[in-house]
Amino acid sequence: MPSQRPLGNITRGTTNPNRLRRCDRWLVATQRDRLAKGATPHLVDLGHGASGVTTLEWAERVRAVRPDVHVTGLEIDPERVATAQHWARPGLDFALGGFEVPLAGGQPARVIRAFNVLRQYDEALVEGPWRTMIGRLDERGILVEGTCDELGRLGSWITLDGQGPQTLTLSWRLRDLDASRLPSVVAERLPKALIHRNVPGEPVHDVLRLIDDAWRRATPFAPYGARQQAIAAFAEVAGQVPVIGGPRRWRLGELTLPWSAVAPRSGPLAQRW
Ligand SMILES: C[S@@+](CC[C@H](N)C(=O)[O-])C[C@H]1O[C@@H](n2cnc3c(N)ncnc32)[C@H](O)[C@@H]1O
Repeated sequence: MPSQRPLGNITRGTTNPNRLRRCDRWLVATQRDRLAKGATPHLVDLGHGASGVTTLEWAERVRAVRPDVHVTGLEIDPERVATAQHWARPGLDFALGGFEVPLAGGQPARVIRAFNVLRQYDEALVEGPWRTMIGRLDERGILVEGTCDELGRLGSWITLDGQGPQTLTLSWRLRDLDASRLPSVVAERLPKALIHRNVPGEPVHDVLRLIDDAWRRATPFAPYGARQQAIAAFAEVAGQVPVIGGPRRWRLGELTLPWSAVAPRSGPLAQRW
Protein backbone atom coordinates (compact mmCIF):
# COMPACT_ATOMS: atom_id res chain seq x y z
CA MET A 1 0.00 0.00 0.00
CA PRO A 2 1.34 3.50 -0.78
CA SER A 3 1.97 5.60 2.31
CA GLN A 4 0.56 8.80 0.76
CA ARG A 5 -2.85 9.51 -0.70
CA PRO A 6 -2.85 8.53 -4.42
CA LEU A 7 -2.41 11.48 -6.81
CA GLY A 8 -5.59 12.41 -8.66
CA ASN A 9 -9.36 12.25 -8.21
CA ILE A 10 -11.93 9.47 -8.31
CA THR A 11 -13.94 9.85 -11.52
CA ARG A 12 -16.61 7.81 -13.35
CA GLY A 13 -15.61 4.16 -13.59
CA THR A 14 -17.27 3.29 -16.93
CA THR A 15 -15.57 0.49 -18.80
CA ASN A 16 -16.55 -2.41 -21.06
CA PRO A 17 -15.10 -5.74 -22.14
CA ASN A 18 -12.97 -5.33 -25.26
CA ARG A 19 -13.23 -1.55 -25.12
CA LEU A 20 -9.46 -1.03 -25.48
CA ARG A 21 -8.82 -3.72 -28.13
CA ARG A 22 -7.83 -1.20 -30.82
CA CYS A 23 -5.10 0.34 -28.71
CA ASP A 24 -3.96 -3.12 -27.55
CA ARG A 25 -3.71 -4.32 -31.16
CA TRP A 26 -1.70 -1.24 -32.10
CA LEU A 27 0.63 -1.67 -29.10
CA VAL A 28 1.39 -5.31 -29.74
CA ALA A 29 1.97 -4.74 -33.48
CA THR A 30 3.89 -1.47 -33.48
CA GLN A 31 5.72 -1.57 -30.15
CA ARG A 32 6.78 -5.20 -30.31
CA ASP A 33 10.48 -4.58 -29.70
CA ARG A 34 9.73 -2.37 -26.75
CA LEU A 35 7.70 -5.19 -25.21
CA ALA A 36 9.89 -8.10 -26.26
CA LYS A 37 13.36 -6.74 -25.49
CA GLY A 38 15.09 -6.08 -22.20
CA ALA A 39 14.30 -7.25 -18.68
CA THR A 40 10.85 -8.51 -17.77
CA PRO A 41 8.54 -5.58 -18.52
CA HIS A 42 6.12 -4.24 -15.95
CA LEU A 43 2.99 -2.78 -17.52
CA VAL A 44 0.58 -0.54 -15.65
CA ASP A 45 -3.08 0.01 -16.49
CA LEU A 46 -3.76 3.25 -14.68
CA GLY A 47 -7.45 3.84 -13.91
CA HIS A 48 -8.81 0.38 -14.74
CA GLY A 49 -12.31 1.50 -13.81
CA ALA A 50 -15.24 -0.40 -12.35
CA SER A 51 -13.89 -3.83 -13.29
CA GLY A 52 -10.51 -5.31 -14.15
CA VAL A 53 -11.61 -6.81 -17.43
CA THR A 54 -9.70 -4.54 -19.83
CA THR A 55 -6.55 -5.05 -17.73
CA LEU A 56 -6.91 -8.83 -18.03
CA GLU A 57 -7.46 -8.55 -21.79
CA TRP A 58 -4.38 -6.36 -22.12
CA ALA A 59 -2.26 -8.82 -20.14
CA GLU A 60 -3.40 -11.69 -22.36
CA ARG A 61 -2.70 -9.78 -25.58
CA VAL A 62 0.76 -8.68 -24.52
CA ARG A 63 1.58 -12.14 -23.22
CA ALA A 64 1.40 -13.39 -26.82
CA VAL A 65 4.59 -11.40 -27.57
CA ARG A 66 6.10 -11.33 -24.09
CA PRO A 67 5.08 -14.37 -22.03
CA ASP A 68 6.75 -13.20 -18.80
CA VAL A 69 5.10 -9.74 -18.76
CA HIS A 70 3.80 -8.50 -15.43
CA VAL A 71 0.72 -6.29 -15.47
CA THR A 72 -0.61 -4.18 -12.61
CA GLY A 73 -3.99 -2.49 -12.69
CA LEU A 74 -4.03 0.68 -10.59
CA GLU A 75 -7.10 2.56 -9.44
CA ILE A 76 -7.60 5.54 -7.20
CA ASP A 77 -10.95 4.19 -5.96
CA PRO A 78 -10.37 1.51 -3.26
CA GLU A 79 -13.75 -0.14 -3.91
CA ARG A 80 -12.86 -0.67 -7.57
CA VAL A 81 -9.51 -2.13 -6.56
CA ALA A 82 -11.34 -4.59 -4.29
CA THR A 83 -13.76 -5.56 -7.09
CA ALA A 84 -10.89 -6.08 -9.55
CA GLN A 85 -9.19 -8.65 -7.29
CA HIS A 86 -11.55 -11.13 -8.89
CA TRP A 87 -9.47 -10.84 -12.09
CA ALA A 88 -6.06 -11.24 -10.41
CA ARG A 89 -3.91 -14.22 -11.39
CA PRO A 90 -0.21 -15.01 -11.81
CA GLY A 91 1.40 -12.08 -13.62
CA LEU A 92 -1.62 -9.80 -13.09
CA ASP A 93 -2.43 -7.87 -9.92
CA PHE A 94 -4.46 -4.87 -8.85
CA ALA A 95 -3.53 -2.16 -6.36
CA LEU A 96 -4.51 1.24 -5.06
CA GLY A 97 -2.62 4.06 -6.75
CA GLY A 98 -2.71 7.24 -8.79
CA PHE A 99 -0.46 9.19 -11.16
CA GLU A 100 2.53 8.52 -8.88
CA VAL A 101 2.35 4.88 -10.15
CA PRO A 102 3.39 3.06 -6.97
CA LEU A 103 5.00 -0.29 -7.81
CA ALA A 104 6.77 -2.61 -5.38
CA GLY A 105 10.31 -1.44 -4.66
CA GLY A 106 9.80 1.69 -6.76
CA GLN A 107 10.16 -0.42 -9.90
CA PRO A 108 9.64 1.56 -13.15
CA ALA A 109 7.06 0.67 -15.81
CA ARG A 110 7.69 -0.25 -19.44
CA VAL A 111 4.23 0.88 -20.49
CA ILE A 112 1.68 2.93 -18.60
CA ARG A 113 -1.73 2.86 -20.26
CA ALA A 114 -4.08 5.57 -18.99
CA PHE A 115 -7.27 5.30 -20.99
CA ASN A 116 -10.35 7.43 -20.43
CA VAL A 117 -8.76 8.87 -17.30
CA LEU A 118 -7.46 12.37 -18.12
CA ARG A 119 -10.51 13.17 -20.22
CA GLN A 120 -12.30 13.72 -16.92
CA TYR A 121 -9.73 16.28 -15.75
CA ASP A 122 -9.27 19.90 -16.83
CA GLU A 123 -7.02 20.62 -19.80
CA ALA A 124 -4.77 22.71 -17.53
CA LEU A 125 -4.23 19.63 -15.34
CA VAL A 126 -2.85 17.38 -18.09
CA GLU A 127 0.80 18.36 -18.00
CA GLY A 128 1.39 17.56 -14.32
CA PRO A 129 0.13 13.92 -14.52
CA TRP A 130 1.95 13.46 -17.85
CA ARG A 131 5.25 14.52 -16.30
CA THR A 132 4.67 12.46 -13.15
CA MET A 133 3.84 9.34 -15.15
CA ILE A 134 6.70 9.62 -17.65
CA GLY A 135 9.00 9.99 -14.66
CA ARG A 136 7.94 6.45 -13.68
CA LEU A 137 8.95 4.81 -16.99
CA ASP A 138 11.98 2.60 -17.51
CA GLU A 139 14.54 3.46 -20.23
CA ARG A 140 12.43 1.76 -22.93
CA GLY A 141 9.15 2.97 -21.52
CA ILE A 142 6.15 4.81 -22.95
CA LEU A 143 2.98 6.31 -21.61
CA VAL A 144 -0.09 5.68 -23.75
CA GLU A 145 -2.75 8.22 -22.84
CA GLY A 146 -6.01 8.03 -24.73
CA THR A 147 -9.74 8.27 -25.03
CA CYS A 148 -12.38 6.17 -26.78
CA ASP A 149 -16.13 5.68 -27.01
CA GLU A 150 -17.99 3.22 -24.79
CA LEU A 151 -17.58 0.29 -27.18
CA GLY A 152 -14.07 1.12 -28.35
CA ARG A 153 -14.99 1.73 -31.98
CA LEU A 154 -13.67 5.28 -32.13
CA GLY A 155 -10.71 6.63 -30.22
CA SER A 156 -7.29 8.19 -30.14
CA TRP A 157 -4.17 8.06 -28.05
CA ILE A 158 -0.95 9.95 -27.49
CA THR A 159 2.36 8.27 -26.74
CA LEU A 160 4.94 9.95 -24.54
CA ASP A 161 8.43 8.97 -23.48
CA GLY A 162 11.08 10.68 -21.36
CA GLN A 163 11.35 13.39 -24.04
CA GLY A 164 7.63 14.23 -23.92
CA PRO A 165 4.79 13.59 -26.39
CA GLN A 166 5.83 11.63 -29.49
CA THR A 167 2.79 10.56 -31.50
CA LEU A 168 -0.96 10.82 -31.90
CA THR A 169 -2.86 7.80 -33.23
CA LEU A 170 -6.42 8.15 -34.53
CA SER A 171 -8.54 5.02 -34.72
CA TRP A 172 -11.87 4.36 -36.43
CA ARG A 173 -14.07 1.35 -37.11
CA LEU A 174 -13.97 2.07 -40.83
CA ARG A 175 -17.37 0.72 -41.70
CA ASP A 176 -18.92 3.38 -39.46
CA LEU A 177 -17.59 6.09 -41.81
CA ASP A 178 -19.35 7.18 -44.97
CA ALA A 179 -20.12 10.31 -46.95
CA SER A 180 -21.93 11.95 -44.05
CA ARG A 181 -20.00 10.50 -41.11
CA LEU A 182 -16.52 11.75 -41.88
CA PRO A 183 -13.24 10.83 -40.13
CA SER A 184 -13.28 14.09 -38.13
CA VAL A 185 -15.97 12.44 -36.00
CA VAL A 186 -12.93 11.32 -33.96
CA ALA A 187 -12.71 14.92 -32.71
CA GLU A 188 -15.21 14.01 -30.00
CA ARG A 189 -12.80 11.34 -28.72
CA LEU A 190 -9.51 13.23 -28.78
CA PRO A 191 -7.35 13.10 -25.65
CA LYS A 192 -7.85 16.00 -23.27
CA ALA A 193 -4.61 17.62 -24.47
CA LEU A 194 -6.17 18.11 -27.92
CA ILE A 195 -9.95 18.03 -27.63
CA HIS A 196 -10.26 21.74 -26.90
CA ARG A 197 -7.73 22.57 -29.65
CA ASN A 198 -9.97 21.46 -32.51
CA VAL A 199 -10.51 25.07 -33.55
CA PRO A 200 -9.31 27.06 -36.57
CA GLY A 201 -5.63 27.96 -36.34
CA GLU A 202 -4.72 24.83 -34.42
CA PRO A 203 -2.75 22.03 -36.15
CA VAL A 204 -5.08 19.24 -35.00
CA HIS A 205 -8.01 21.09 -36.57
CA ASP A 206 -6.13 21.47 -39.86
CA VAL A 207 -5.16 17.80 -39.84
CA LEU A 208 -8.73 16.65 -39.26
CA ARG A 209 -9.96 18.86 -42.14
CA LEU A 210 -7.22 17.39 -44.34
CA ILE A 211 -8.30 13.84 -43.48
CA ASP A 212 -11.97 14.65 -44.20
CA ASP A 213 -11.07 16.18 -47.57
CA ALA A 214 -8.94 13.18 -48.49
CA TRP A 215 -11.75 10.82 -47.39
CA ARG A 216 -14.21 12.66 -49.63
CA ARG A 217 -11.81 12.56 -52.58
CA ALA A 218 -11.36 8.81 -52.04
CA THR A 219 -15.11 8.22 -52.51
CA PRO A 220 -14.52 6.43 -55.85
CA PHE A 221 -12.92 3.65 -53.78
CA ALA A 222 -16.00 3.24 -51.57
CA PRO A 223 -17.59 0.52 -53.74
CA TYR A 224 -14.48 -1.60 -53.02
CA GLY A 225 -14.99 -1.21 -49.29
CA ALA A 226 -14.11 1.20 -46.51
CA ARG A 227 -10.61 -0.26 -46.20
CA GLN A 228 -9.77 0.65 -49.78
CA GLN A 229 -11.22 4.10 -49.27
CA ALA A 230 -9.12 4.55 -46.13
CA ILE A 231 -5.91 3.38 -47.81
CA ALA A 232 -6.44 5.86 -50.65
CA ALA A 233 -7.40 8.69 -48.31
CA PHE A 234 -4.57 8.17 -45.82
CA ALA A 235 -2.03 7.88 -48.65
CA GLU A 236 -3.13 11.33 -49.76
CA VAL A 237 -2.83 12.63 -46.19
CA ALA A 238 0.68 11.13 -46.00
CA GLY A 239 1.62 13.23 -49.02
CA GLN A 240 0.77 16.40 -47.13
CA VAL A 241 1.73 15.80 -43.49
CA PRO A 242 4.21 13.40 -41.92
CA VAL A 243 2.63 10.06 -41.10
CA ILE A 244 4.11 7.09 -39.23
CA GLY A 245 3.29 3.66 -40.67
CA GLY A 246 1.53 2.74 -43.88
CA PRO A 247 -1.27 0.75 -45.49
CA ARG A 248 -0.97 -2.19 -43.10
CA ARG A 249 -2.13 0.09 -40.29
CA TRP A 250 -4.42 2.24 -42.43
CA ARG A 251 -6.54 -0.72 -43.51
CA LEU A 252 -7.29 -1.33 -39.83
CA GLY A 253 -8.58 2.21 -39.49
CA GLU A 254 -5.48 3.61 -37.80
CA LEU A 255 -3.51 6.71 -38.63
CA THR A 256 -0.46 7.78 -36.60
CA LEU A 257 1.12 11.23 -36.81
CA PRO A 258 4.15 12.66 -35.08
CA TRP A 259 3.25 14.95 -32.20
CA SER A 260 4.91 17.83 -34.06
CA ALA A 261 2.06 17.65 -36.62
CA VAL A 262 -0.62 18.29 -34.00
CA ALA A 263 1.09 19.98 -31.05
CA PRO A 264 -1.13 22.80 -29.71
CA ARG A 265 -0.27 26.39 -30.63
CA SER A 266 -2.38 27.82 -27.82
CA GLY A 267 -3.65 26.71 -24.43
CA PRO A 268 -1.83 25.20 -21.47
CA LEU A 269 0.25 22.74 -23.53
CA ALA A 270 1.49 25.19 -26.16
CA GLN A 271 5.28 25.11 -26.57
CA ARG A 272 5.71 22.94 -23.49
CA TRP A 273 7.99 20.47 -25.26
C1 LIG B 1 -13.77 5.97 -17.26
S1 LIG B 1 -12.82 4.89 -16.26
C2 LIG B 1 -11.78 4.14 -17.47
C3 LIG B 1 -11.68 2.66 -17.30
C4 LIG B 1 -10.83 1.97 -18.36
N1 LIG B 1 -9.48 2.46 -18.35
C5 LIG B 1 -11.44 2.14 -19.72
O1 LIG B 1 -10.92 2.92 -20.52
O2 LIG B 1 -12.46 1.50 -20.01
C6 LIG B 1 -11.67 6.03 -15.46
C7 LIG B 1 -11.14 5.47 -14.14
O3 LIG B 1 -9.95 6.17 -13.83
C8 LIG B 1 -9.88 6.32 -12.43
N2 LIG B 1 -8.94 7.40 -12.12
C9 LIG B 1 -9.12 8.73 -12.27
N3 LIG B 1 -8.02 9.39 -11.89
C10 LIG B 1 -7.11 8.47 -11.51
C11 LIG B 1 -5.79 8.53 -11.03
N4 LIG B 1 -5.18 9.69 -10.87
N5 LIG B 1 -5.16 7.38 -10.74
C12 LIG B 1 -5.78 6.18 -10.88
N6 LIG B 1 -7.05 6.06 -11.33
C13 LIG B 1 -7.69 7.18 -11.66
C14 LIG B 1 -11.30 6.60 -12.03
O4 LIG B 1 -11.53 6.37 -10.67
C15 LIG B 1 -12.08 5.67 -12.96
O5 LIG B 1 -12.34 4.44 -12.34
